[in-house]
Amino acid sequence: ADNHLASPVGTTLERYIMQKQGEFPFATGELSQLLRDIALAGKIINREVNRAGLAGIAGAYGQQNVQGEEQQKLDVVANIRFIRALRNGGQACAVLSEEEDEIIHTGNDQGKYVVAIDPLDGSSNINVNVSIGTIFSIYRRVTAVGSKATRADFLQGGRQQVAAGYILYGSSTMLVYTTGHGVVGFTYEPSLGEFFLSHPDIRIPEAGKTFSCNEGNWFDYPECVRTYLTGCKQQRFSGRYVGSLVADYHRNLFTGGIYLYPPTKKNPSGKLRLLYESYPLALVIEQAGGKALADGSAVLDIVPIDFHQRSALYIGSKDMVTAYQACAEAED
Ligand code: AHG
Ligand code: MN
Ligand code: MN
Ligand code: MN
Repeated sequence: ADNHLASPVGTTLERYIMQKQGEFPFATGELSQLLRDIALAGKIINREVNRAGLAGIAGAYGQQNVQGEEQQKLDVVANIRFIRALRNGGQACAVLSEEEDEIIHTGNDQGKYVVAIDPLDGSSNINVNVSIGTIFSIYRRVTAVGSKATRADFLQGGRQQVAAGYILYGSSTMLVYTTGHGVVGFTYEPSLGEFFLSHPDIRIPEAGKTFSCNEGNWFDYPECVRTYLTGCKQQRFSGRYVGSLVADYHRNLFTGGIYLYPPTKKNPSGKLRLLYESYPLALVIEQAGGKALADGSAVLDIVPIDFHQRSALYIGSKDMVTAYQACAEAED
């Protein structure tokens, strides 16, 4: 029971990244630096999140984003903070954000990477003190270094991501990411201001007994989703839905489970955004041994055409997602 007390404080993110970089002799360290910048952005947003109620930044901002969503003040603050950290870091030449219509050029045209972000995930939970997150996705640019980034840099497809992950502002703040060699998790120690390696090799259980979806949309769900969910209920699986994708996803990653956001009347292609929600979480889940489907294909195989395009999402434990897939194919 006292295991966590016995374990040394251990490896900082800083040291971990340095060690990993040492294992790739030809790596130039730019991706490592970018990951550090993202961690710094995470710390800054964590600070804002933790004092949201006191600092007067809880509540609605009074404007809509390009998706027609009511922006919260913290959506706007997180967006500004994150972009600023990437601009100051120098490795990212451009950013795509949920909160902005078009590409944001950082001015670092020498940077080799572009980053797509959901700066603050779980908007509806900000004002009620429930876990929220940040999601990021990194590509190596396809345009020439020194030039301005273009649409093509962001529309490479999910399999081209060189790194992806998320930060969860929960009972602890955690950074979870992959660079395509498994999934690692770090826990933030606020008094030291450091992320420490807490989960060196995250694997999602192959089977699970948790399903996560907004059941209020039940009557909009495709028949196959209802068939699958009915099966879950017949087996007395647990329903768990925070309403912050990052939090729901993170729980299922650790305990086993499936998260579903099917098409609905309001969002006929699904609600979640491909470039900065579905793709990054799909890369992480595949790297953790799980599975991510959209309608008709693996999430990572969807061909992107738009910055803010949406996708259906069925993601989590391999056996559960495969069982859902069987329901979907049976009805084809
Ligand atoms: P965001 O707050 O970044 O706009 O994302 C909202 C998403 C996601 O966090 C969550 O899982 C989902 O919307 C919840 O949607 P419903 O309220 O429709 O269930
Ligand atoms: Mn939003
Ligand atoms: Mn989101
Ligand atoms: Mn968001």
